Amino acid sequence: MESNKTFTMIKPDAVANGHIGAILDKITSNGFKIVALKYTALSAEKAGEFYSVHKERPFYKDLVSFMSSGPIVAAILEKDNAIEDYRKLIGATDPSKAEPGTIRNLFAKSIDANAVHGSDSDENAAIEGNFFFSAFERF
Ligand code: CMP
Repeated sequence: MESNKTFTMIKPDAVANGHIGAILDKITSNGFKIVALKYTALSAEKAGEFYSVHKERPFYKDLVSFMSSGPIVAAILEKDNAIEDYRKLIGATDPSKAEPGTIRNLFAKSIDANAVHGSDSDENAAIEGNFFFSAFERF
């Protein structure tokens, strides 16, 4: 299992609000290398599959509906200690609790529309990266 990779999505709210460029700049200026990058959209079925780990949670239906509401940017990122460092860079899931200067503090509006996703473990980073990218799309 690689410990230097994480997976992220720029969510529909941040895309719609014009923050793709600013978020990618935050990512690269904080030392993450972009290994793979894709501008795409999730159908409700695909969003449900991606977030299937949360399917028993009360917010699952809203999460699936929101994540399939518009285009997203998916990326695999590389850096030493990637999972932990990226979670620090994005801030708490609930943007009202995110540290100043974090991506969610700067660009997110609510716990649903929270601008970005970041993997929570090496295992999930591999699963999530494989969900979007083939070997030919990684550099
Ligand atoms: P994300 O990191 O993409 O993983 C699951 C998402 O569910 C999370 O970000 C939030 O946008 C959303 N969500 C909505 N309500 C909650 C909640 N109570 N706890 C955790 N995640 C939530």
